[in-house]
Amino acid sequence: MNILVTGGAGFIGSHTVVALTEAGFRPIILDDFSNSEKSVLDGLEQITGSKPTTYAENCHNRETLRRIFKEEKIEGVIHFAAFKAVGESMQKPLEYYDNNLGSLIVLLQTMLECGVSNLIFSSSCTVYGEPDELPVTEKTPVKPASSVYGNTKQIGEEILHDTIEAGNALKIISLRYFNPIGAHPSAAIGELPRGVPSNLVPFMIQTAAGLRESLTIFGDDYPTPDGTCIRDYIHVLDLAEAHVAALQFLLKKDVSGYYDIFNVGTGRGASVMELIKSFEQVAGVPLNYKLGPRRSGDVTAVYADVQKCTEQLGWKAKRSMQDALADAWRWQLAITAQR
Ligand code: UD1
Repeated sequence: MNILVTGGAGFIGSHTVVALTEAGFRPIILDDFSNSEKSVLDGLEQITGSKPTTYAENCHNRETLRRIFKEEKIEGVIHFAAFKAVGESMQKPLEYYDNNLGSLIVLLQTMLECGVSNLIFSSSCTVYGEPDELPVTEKTPVKPASSVYGNTKQIGEEILHDTIEAGNALKIISLRYFNPIGAHPSAAIGELPRGVPSNLVPFMIQTAAGLRESLTIFGDDYPTPDGTCIRDYIHVLDLAEAHVAALQFLLKKDVSGYYDIFNVGTGRGASVMELIKSFEQVAGVPLNYKLGPRRSGDVTAVYADVQKCTEQLGWKAKRSMQDALADAWRWQLAITAQR
């Protein structure tokens, strides 16, 4: 069964291509490579044994989508393609709204036109803001977004909800990702941030590899046991497998219109300090880090209640934070050796 994966050359997208292939689907990538590398396709070939069919085009284009839906007999779409840099989104709001929401609207319209009915949308735990209670369930209130990026995820969810409320024949799931980390254990694919990484694990492994001088911990005066922020770090392959579970659930669902939201995390919160200590243990190298001020926009703590996903999708995270850190480190060593 052919599944279109927009943004399939990206970090989560490429791992989902692997998970889909392993589950017997045929993933077809649509990616304009504006924030990913063509070498990802070689990594995918190394893991799965064949290069996935790839359209190196932008998914904001109605004609492109029409053509792929017809040529490839697509039965479902996993829509990753989006801009995702929180800081940049504040500088370039129109680019973010246009790219992230414009492409979603065109995709929905073209799916309806071509009779493609199953869709999985990448949302984010960022919609919960600073939550009043932990862990967060899907019923935890959504807070006003603190970034344009976060707002594109909230509005994206609203667009999907309203599309189904209006009676359109689509089955849609939004997955609210917590913090994806790690890489494929083969070290053939992983995260490839461009420039200075803003996320914790990419910065950490680049520091350990000697590419950056030191990691700054953004604040140790939060009201948490060790003063550093708490997040729910999930292995990217677990997250990838959640997409397969969601897709299988949608394919079995015998209704014409459906929309729901699922948290995808491990259910366990870990602090920045815990992550650093685990990394040092797993990698067997000391990490050069220092304390710095808080980063604006960071929430104190957020981690998932995963009951809904476990009960309805039959999915739960299998890999530990240590597994994810070991895989991320192996990946960093592999790319450092190549360059
Ligand atoms: C961020 C985004 C979120 C997005 C996610 C994945 C914000 C507010 N949120 O999540 O919307 O979905 O990335 O792209 O940006 N940290 C340090 N030092 C560093 C980097 C990070 O101490 O050099 C800390 C942060 O303060 C935070 C934790 O590490 O407590 C995780 O940070 P990060 O990896 O950037 O993810 P989030 O901010 O949780």
